[in-house]
Amino acid sequence: MTRTSGTAVLRARGVVKSYGPTPALRGIDLDLAERELLAVTGPSGSGKSTLLHCLAGILRPDAGEITYADRALGGCSEAERSRLRRTEFGVLFQFGQLVPELTAAENAALPLLLSGSSRKEARTAALDWLGRLGVADVADVRPAQMSGGQQQLCAAARALVTGPRVLFADEPTGALDQLAGEKLLGHLVRAARDQGTSVVLVTHAPGVAAYADRELALYDGATDATGLGAGQRIGAPR
Ligand SMILES: Nc1ncnc2c1ncn2[C@@H]1O[C@H](COP(=O)(O)OP(=O)(O)OP(=O)(O)O)[C@@H](O)[C@H]1O
Ligand SMILES: [Mg+2]
Repeated sequence: MTRTSGTAVLRARGVVKSYGPTPALRGIDLDLAERELLAVTGPSGSGKSTLLHCLAGILRPDAGEITYADRALGGCSEAERSRLRRTEFGVLFQFGQLVPELTAAENAALPLLLSGSSRKEARTAALDWLGRLGVADVADVRPAQMSGGQQQLCAAARALVTGPRVLFADEPTGALDQLAGEKLLGHLVRAARDQGTSVVLVTHAPGVAAYADRELALYDGATDATGLGAGQRIGAPR
């Protein structure tokens, strides 16, 4: 029996997605348990970002079903899905996607402001997360004046500031040096453990996957032949 049975917070069944004639996902099943850290690995073009975007309700699959807390995302309106992303999910995109006109602190505060927090509350929480991630010094700087790594850390602060139930992170350490990358992963792991947040972590790097409880390997839009990738590679960081 796997640790994901019964208590899945997020569940995918038979998820298929193509971009025109290009198939990106060919029928993906997964269960994400409470507090679980699932690493999604696979070569470039294997469908990792597409899967993450489907799971987070950003992309609609062509077929299959994704349920969050027993609610089918396919049955939710655009507005309901965007509300879910604001209140229940944190999304850390592969390319940061900060709002260029806003400073780091304003970017990090945004999800709280959109959910009705006061400006003061939102700024305090944003500064707290920027500090924890080691980028408090760029709080009042706009993305164009930040390094790629600083932008990614700021995006991480924005994704964590609401204490999401599920955090979706796409290559969160890609633009960071090893030390900063490990620090960020440490925060992701701690956020997951302390706040009861489940994490879906997309990564190329085997060292990053080692932080996870379980690994789902994608090859050409499908999970590996056995579907066991999981479980086999559980372990402590090397
Ligand atoms: N917007 C798009 N339009 C057309 N094809 C796309 C689009 N996005 C992705 N694809 C294709 O879908 C497949 C899966 O892409 P995806 O971005 O999910 O891969 P990935 O595993 O995240 O890759 P990487 O590791 O390079 O980020 C690839 O063949 C890619 O070329
Ligand atoms: Mg990708």
